[in-house]
Amino acid sequence: MNLPGKVTIIEVGPRDGLQNEKNQVPTESKISFIKELKNAGITEMELTSFVSPKWVPQMSDAKEIIDACLDKKRNFVLTPNRKGIERLYETDGKDVAVFVGVSSAFNKKNINKTTEESMAELRPILAELKQKGYFVRACISTSFYCPYDGKVDPKAVVALCTQFTDFGVDELSVADTIGMASPLESYQLFNELNTRLGDRVLLTAHFHDTRGMALANIYACLQAGITRFDTSAGGLGGCPFAPGATGNVATEDVVFMLHQMGIETGIDLKALHKAIQGISEHVSRKIETKYYNLVEQTPSCT
Ligand code: HMG
Ligand code: MG
Repeated sequence: MNLPGKVTIIEVGPRDGLQNEKNQVPTESKISFIKELKNAGITEMELTSFVSPKWVPQMSDAKEIIDACLDKKRNFVLTPNRKGIERLYETDGKDVAVFVGVSSAFNKKNINKTTEESMAELRPILAELKQKGYFVRACISTSFYCPYDGKVDPKAVVALCTQFTDFGVDELSVADTIGMASPLESYQLFNELNTRLGDRVLLTAHFHDTRGMALANIYACLQAGITRFDTSAGGLGGCPFAPGATGNVATEDVVFMLHQMGIETGIDLKALHKAIQGISEHVSRKIETKYYNLVEQTPSCT
């Protein structure tokens, strides 16, 4: 069996997890959550996003979060446009994540532009960010299925990923936005991306666990040589503009599976659990991920 010795977890809970929360999570609670996640050994994280507060009110405290949480680790701020980049320049943040959907129908609902219009806007921005020394990640939504248009052609995903790589991004986070990809589809797409682009760009897989296939998809991706995964503590998350997109795959469940296979993550599960207990008091949904429930109910089992 072909498995890596080490995997990098990119924690997306403070952004992808909390953006979809019904409750307005207090800024101080978000900051504590982020700091506890860092204490647990997370080295790369999506902290927040600069998007329209009218579209996503949960992220309206982005600047305070960035100012309170930046450190020497990789701290991504997500944004889709020039306005967000200008806001980023007013902070000390140096890691940015842009986002585009392969499906234009989804992109229109999410950021009010077609995929082509988004790429045209981003091209000069990406050149500028690279020239200024920023680390740039591109998040590719609806890489398998679109909630509006159905199955997405893998050739369109490869084409968009190639375009972003040609634009000079450092990382591609390729997402199954509505959690519909099977392990076979995951293997095939990531194997193709790794073969074509793996020596030019970091490849990260981003799964939502809507239909319970996320862990199997991660296992399939490991077989395809992928060693970077986006996960969300407590399985929080979902995109407000993708109906049916429930939570991201849970950090704790992924870390547990990897550790059981002898794969290092650098993450301390006990400290991670504590971080999730802290945020659980501030979110509207009950946290019911496998590892979290087990520790809550039968601490001796861990
Ligand atoms: P629009 O209405 O077409 O834009 O929205 P606009 O240019 O007309 O601006 C509208 C207002 O927003 C203006 O303010 C702008 O200044 C402001 P007003 O004059 O009305 O007071 N504005 C901004 N404010 C703060 N930061 C900005 C910004 N840009 C404009 N960057 C827009 C277009 C892109 C703004 C809107 O559609 C939007 O904010 N969309 C964000 C949607 C979002 O955050 N989705 C979730 C993240 S993607 C995701 O979760 C998927 C991912 O996890 C991977 C996966 O799972 O697939 C990454
Ligand atoms: Mg997501």
